[in-house]
Amino acid sequence: MKNSDKLPEIIQGGMGIGVSGWRLAKAVSMQGQMGVVSGTAIDSVIVRRLQSGDSDGSIRRALSHFPWADMAQRISEEYLIPGGKSPEKPFKPTPAHTLQMKRSSCELLIVSNFVEVFLAKEGHKGLTGINYLEKIQLPTLPSLFGAMLAGVDFVLMGGGIPLSIPGVLDGVSQLDTVELKIHVEDNPGHRSYSHVFDPKDFCTGTLPKLTRPKFLAIISSDIAAKTLVRRSTGFVDGFVVEDHTAGGHNAPPRRTDRTETPSLPQFGQKDIPDIGKIRELGRPFWLAGGCASPEKLKHALDSGADGIQVGTAFALCNESSMLPEIKQEVLRQCMSGKIKVLTDFQASPTGYPFKVISLKNTVTDRNCRERKRCCDLGYLKQLYCKSESEIGYRCPGEPVKIWLMKGGSEDKTVGKHCLCNGLLATVGLGQVRENGSEPPVVTSGEDFSFATHLVRNPDDLNYSAKDVIDYIKS
Ligand SMILES: Cc1cc2nc3c(=O)[nH]c(=O)nc-3n(C[C@H](O)[C@H](O)[C@H](O)COP(=O)(O)O)c2cc1C
Repeated sequence: MKNSDKLPEIIQGGMGIGVSGWRLAKAVSMQGQMGVVSGTAIDSVIVRRLQSGDSDGSIRRALSHFPWADMAQRISEEYLIPGGKSPEKPFKPTPAHTLQMKRSSCELLIVSNFVEVFLAKEGHKGLTGINYLEKIQLPTLPSLFGAMLAGVDFVLMGGGIPLSIPGVLDGVSQLDTVELKIHVEDNPGHRSYSHVFDPKDFCTGTLPKLTRPKFLAIISSDIAAKTLVRRSTGFVDGFVVEDHTAGGHNAPPRRTDRTETPSLPQFGQKDIPDIGKIRELGRPFWLAGGCASPEKLKHALDSGADGIQVGTAFALCNESSMLPEIKQEVLRQCMSGKIKVLTDFQASPTGYPFKVISLKNTVTDRNCRERKRCCDLGYLKQLYCKSESEIGYRCPGEPVKIWLMKGGSEDKTVGKHCLCNGLLATVGLGQVRENGSEPPVVTSGEDFSFATHLVRNPDDLNYSAKDVIDYIKS
């Protein structure tokens, strides 16, 4: 049996931006389960780690294994600051992603995805996956190529219905030119826009031999699963079935139930995925959302699933890249029963519900200085038709005046957070502004029942990825 044919019982969910970095994924893979790195905004993560000095030399070590030394060297010459930048200086930006991607953007994406997967896979034979969001389309093709160059075993994608990705994986593994249709708003003529990517344009020496990773779609309904099986451009190897208690983004409520306040969106009975119908599709699947316990694993296996995907319990463990002070505060609040997780239907520029924890000194803290809107990372920006021949880029999290000038409507800007800057701050890579650093945004799932089993002493809030796995398998 090939390594990639073995299916794990526990998938450590991909957690962006950078929360599930290579250290966490590697720790999980080494325990015989599947570690998943986040590919979301990984180019910014890598260039900011390089500008912070790459103190343990891990990125430089990965770069020395990149198949084309000249490309790796360009990245390190551009971004590495030996000893690290001074703390009051801002990070240098990464090139913007556009419909006509510049070669420098593509190279950075290829190299960054390679580095993160290489490091997660280094020194063991376990399984490694990479997670992307369907809504973030522009970086996808070069990112997949970079991850595949490092031999990623699984690609997982949520935040939409990724019909095109299975075919793209087939194409890239053959080094064929691939195409991804790009969604463009305000497009009355329904013109078709796409991103075309030829892996061979970037192979400056011997052509690499690539293996097609398995593809798992992260979905929240049997209808989405069925659509993927029927209409995908290639084979979907399985599903992660995530319910609305899970951390990060959630699928929007499918049908609004009648409530006393019918104008407020709310999850109801009808948003619970029909596991029986998913089982009937005959593909492997894993359940996600509040599943971090031996009972939930047993329940998943009994219902025909291959296992579970777990996020929050791993996000708070020692190997996760979330800032230690944030992890400790969240665990302290868990232990004292004060933790509050909110489904925010407005915060995310994607328009999807997003789980946030109320914490001091983060964007949810009313006493925290109001953040001046600015959009300088732009991963969640929408493309829109400026005219028949011109494409524009806009984000409802950017300054309202600019959003309105770009034809956006004011109601879409209400309550928006800049998730790109906020999530980078949560892993200690926040941008430095004139009036201080970017405030973090902290997301998690609703279930913390694992905490009392993993934290045995309130004075020591540390536990490892192995502790999470040992507890779930106990
Ligand atoms: C901090 C955090 C960040 C997350 N980021 C992502 C992400 O970028 N993409 C994704 O598909 N899921 C993301 N998730 C969801 C997890 O991968 C996982 O499916 C979910 O957390 C499972 O529910 P649980 O937290 O109750 O275990 C995130 C979850 C957390 C806690």
